[in-house]
Amino acid sequence: MGSLGGITAGKAMALGLALLACLVTGTTCQGPLYGTIGAARGLIETGATVFNVTQYGAKANGKTDDALAFIKAWNAACHNSGPAKLVIPAGTYLCSPVTAWPYNDCKQNSDCQHLPVSLKFNKVNNTIVDGVTSLNSMGFHFSLTFSQNFTGVNLNITAPDESPNTDGIHLSSSDRINISNSFIGTGDDCIGIIQGTTNVTITQITCGPGHGISIGSLGKYPKEKDVIGVHVRNATLTNTTNGVRIKTYPGEKQLLASDIIFEDIVMNTVMNPIIINQNYGSKKVTKPSSVKVSDVHFKNIRGTTVSEVAVTLLCSSSNPCDPVELSDIDLSFARDSSGSKSITSSCTNAKPTFIVTQNPPACQ
Ligand SMILES: *[C@@H]1O[C@H](CO)[C@@H](O)[C@H](O)[C@H]1NC(C)=O
Ligand SMILES: *[C@@H]1O[C@H](CO)[C@@H](O)[C@H](O)[C@H]1NC(C)=O
Ligand SMILES: *[C@@H]1O[C@H](CO)[C@@H](O)[C@H](O)[C@H]1NC(C)=O
Ligand SMILES: *[C@@H]1O[C@H](CO)[C@@H](O)[C@H](O)[C@H]1NC(C)=O
Ligand SMILES: *[C@@H]1O[C@H](CO)[C@@H](O)[C@H](O)[C@H]1NC(C)=O
Ligand SMILES: *[C@@H]1O[C@H](CO)[C@@H](O)[C@H](O)[C@H]1NC(C)=O
Ligand SMILES: *[C@@H]1O[C@H](CO)[C@@H](O)[C@H](O)[C@H]1NC(C)=O
Ligand SMILES: *[C@@H]1O[C@H](CO)[C@@H](O)[C@H](O)[C@H]1NC(C)=O
Repeated sequence: MGSLGGITAGKAMALGLALLACLVTGTTCQGPLYGTIGAARGLIETGATVFNVTQYGAKANGKTDDALAFIKAWNAACHNSGPAKLVIPAGTYLCSPVTAWPYNDCKQNSDCQHLPVSLKFNKVNNTIVDGVTSLNSMGFHFSLTFSQNFTGVNLNITAPDESPNTDGIHLSSSDRINISNSFIGTGDDCIGIIQGTTNVTITQITCGPGHGISIGSLGKYPKEKDVIGVHVRNATLTNTTNGVRIKTYPGEKQLLASDIIFEDIVMNTVMNPIIINQNYGSKKVTKPSSVKVSDVHFKNIRGTTVSEVAVTLLCSSSNPCDPVELSDIDLSFARDSSGSKSITSSCTNAKPTFIVTQNPPACQ
């Protein structure tokens, strides 16, 4: 680690489309900000007061630390009594590690973050983030919690593949999320969808390196809520450790992960292209996972795997995955010039419905 983070205003600006890399619409802030960015709420975009990071001292030269200017501008926007827009003019902004952030909610929030998030949206409704590049975050690049109606589009999220916990986009306790047309390459999940997240649409995502697109982990903490409605379409994953994944911890926490579609997905040299792991985080299972994984569809997934077991459905003995559909799956072994190496699928406590093509062959 120790790398410096940065935010670059994206190509949307270069094309002259509104000089807004990041558009946050909000009104009144709730309570103290604790050094996070976000905590705004509200709806109206028209007539919003503009908070321009440049006017708060941001230099956008890629060398001067602009973190404080961002925090000042963001806080001012959040404390505005009317609608507010945060404006980040085109440029490269260095946001060096802002370790002075006093924020740490680990006591209340089981999903706390230990290192600063580059852009954290906490209780922010009706947000569009368009054309933002986030480079080398310390912790997560983007996180969203207690937020609704969020659109992230034309994002470029980049961190070295060896950097830990640099999730691209981390979602929790949020509803109506739409992430599209973005490039994400990190050292952790490209997109992580955890507890309390509903109605998520993810389309046209390029992911890799990283740990793939993940639902969970779920079922570790007592206050977690269900994840319902995650539709991932038209994604390409390259050199990731997982492709599309659902992960839950063994244990007693009862929870639902349901209405999940992974569709039209290309895997390029991916370690575990399709994987449900309900024994996540444990070598010995003392209690099976109480998370019910249901209504899961893997459709039109093709490309190459670097592990022999390309499809793993490792479900809970007390809560088998049901129903699960595998439709039109066409994977082959990567870097196999002879074309003879066979791949397999493995199903435990799951009886998926198989439709049309199945490579690897359907598990018994
Ligand atoms: C966001 O919207 C929901 C309902 O639409 C509302 O219940 C919630 O209070 C709003 N959050 C904020 C921070 O305004
Ligand atoms: C932001 O402020 C800078 C410096 O005053 C100015 O040049 C720029 O036009 C402003 N951008 C917007 C979108 O208001
Ligand atoms: C969702 O947010 C967008 C962008 O701020 C806004 O235009 C739209 O009206 C919001 N939708 C609802 C249902 O509030
Ligand atoms: C994303 O940003 C990185 C770092 O600035 C750059 O090297 C890369 O070309 C960008 N990728 C895309 C798809 O825009
Ligand atoms: C998601 O956002 C993209 C880009 O703004 C838009 O084209 C698409 O219709 C949205 N999808 C949903 C389900 O809102
Ligand atoms: C998902 O969105 C639909 C339609 O907007 C809404 O009726 C439903 O309550 C949402 N689901 C959850 C769990 O919030
Ligand atoms: C899928 O995404 C690629 C680029 O990522 C795009 O060229 C293609 O049109 C998309 N296909 C569909 C069906 O949306
Ligand atoms: C994937 O890994 C291969 C082999 O290590 C490398 O040659 C290739 O550039 C990588 N692709 C991407 C998009 O990172």
